[in-house]
Amino acid sequence: MRSFTLFTSAIAAFAGFACADLNLSEPLQSKQVLPSTFTPPQVFKNAHLVRTTNLDKAYPRETVNILIENIDSKPQSQYYVPFDTTLLARVGGFEVRDKKNAAAGTFKVEVVGLEQDSTTEFYLIHLPEPLAPGAQQTISISYSILSALKPVPSELAQTAKQYLQYTFSAYTPSAYPTEKQRTKVKFPNADVTDYTTLPAELNDEQKADPQKQGSTFTYGLYTNVPAGAQQPVSVRYEFTKPIVQSTLLERDIEVSHWGGNLATEERYWLINEGAGLKNHFSRVEWQKQNYMNPPTFALKGLNLPLAVGAVDPYFTDDIGNVSTSRFRPGKKENLLELKPRYPIFGNWKYSFRVGWNAELSSYLRKLAKGDTYVLKVPFLEGPRAVEGISYGRVSLRVVLPEGATNVNFQTSVPIIANSTSLHKTFMDTVGRTTLTLTALNLVDEFRDRDLVVTYDYPWTAGYRKPITISLGAFAVFAFVWAVGSIDTSIGSKKKAV
Ligand SMILES: *[C@@H]1O[C@H](CO)[C@@H](O)[C@H](O)[C@H]1NC(C)=O
Ligand SMILES: *[C@@H]1O[C@H](CO)[C@@H](O)[C@H](O)[C@H]1NC(C)=O
Ligand SMILES: *[C@@H]1O[C@H](CO)[C@@H](O)[C@H](O)[C@H]1NC(C)=O
Repeated sequence: MRSFTLFTSAIAAFAGFACADLNLSEPLQSKQVLPSTFTPPQVFKNAHLVRTTNLDKAYPRETVNILIENIDSKPQSQYYVPFDTTLLARVGGFEVRDKKNAAAGTFKVEVVGLEQDSTTEFYLIHLPEPLAPGAQQTISISYSILSALKPVPSELAQTAKQYLQYTFSAYTPSAYPTEKQRTKVKFPNADVTDYTTLPAELNDEQKADPQKQGSTFTYGLYTNVPAGAQQPVSVRYEFTKPIVQSTLLERDIEVSHWGGNLATEERYWLINEGAGLKNHFSRVEWQKQNYMNPPTFALKGLNLPLAVGAVDPYFTDDIGNVSTSRFRPGKKENLLELKPRYPIFGNWKYSFRVGWNAELSSYLRKLAKGDTYVLKVPFLEGPRAVEGISYGRVSLRVVLPEGATNVNFQTSVPIIANSTSLHKTFMDTVGRTTLTLTALNLVDEFRDRDLVVTYDYPWTAGYRKPITISLGAFAVFAFVWAVGSIDTSIGSKKKAV
């Protein structure tokens, strides 16, 4: 039964792969649009702000802790965070919490754009409780930025070290005046070859700016920075690892009640945004060097930690079955080690598909009353790497059985679009109920965030497929019988004439 499920899903998947060209021209973000004259009402000030820029991964991660104060005469709950439009399109996983009560969950946020071709857009944060006049609250904003690190130089010899440049504003961009602020930049190591030095007069302590402490540099303290002020700086540091982005990930999760199976298939379109290869690729040199396993800016392999219970894995790329992959079942996880056919240097692309099966009972349970089922799966499984991996667009499809209705979902991953449709595959009558979710600019830190889907599935719907197949088999049988009973003796009659 399992192999049958695999067979049908493989057919469906191949049909999808052939026509799934990369189309990123769809609007990237649903947003509220305000007149171009809009400026955020000046009802807050930032009493104190500390930003931490973490550069230990292949994408910068920003954490901004701000003590905000309501300077208006009425309670306020709308706090704006400005971004350049081109930057906002690359910001992912923007989340805001109460610094003193992080367990209470994330605040509601939305994107606000301006009419015409404005260069500024905002994240609008809705405080769960309006802040009273004169009151203060510490909020913690975190996000990642995709495609923000530039290899300098942009081309390297096969065995060279890679250096990345990151450009940002030493003043944290804000829609409000900031009384005191600092930016801490955390590098992956102390090999920081270049960095902007700002005049000592700019900072309040009249000290060398930035202050260095091991692999952490601190810009500031700056006092009374006006709203909207920027102070561009850039840093360059060693990072000899690939900068892997999956421009698109299509992830299909197919529930088969009948087969008791959960089939997962993922299709990746990867690019290494690191340095390109200066000269021709030398496989001899590569193999000689590879023996010692030195750091490299090429992508050599990917490790997908699958849940215990994952079986029948496959890995194919544009050419076909890739035999250089390994599957290592373990106690805590089943590790799928993928090795592309060649190392992927900067600007090179690689697309492939992986899939596996699992027992449905580990992911699905039926509520005691009624016909409601609850499915709990990771939103993202994807490769695990020290340097991390980012996802430009994730399209997740959950294919439920035929006849499933009343589909609802819940996830803490920021979703930009959701829809429920019917998806017809082999031997389906009405088509399977399919939930499609789209997320933008995710990073691997969102691995293992759950997606919970509930749906109703009456037990009679479960007989739809066996009945279809029986009817199909019966039709074939009837046809064979009908053909068999036709008088085929025409030829012999002719002979007899
Ligand atoms: C890409 O998507 C846009 C918006 O949905 C659509 O108008 C356009 O035709 C698509 N392009 C291709 C090549 O499919
Ligand atoms: C793909 O490779 C695996 C492992 O080498 C093998 O077991 C499987 O039969 C291959 N499948 C095809 C379709 O060639
Ligand atoms: C799903 O999409 C609809 C609009 O198509 C929207 O109103 C709804 O809030 C979305 N649900 C979630 C949980 O994002």
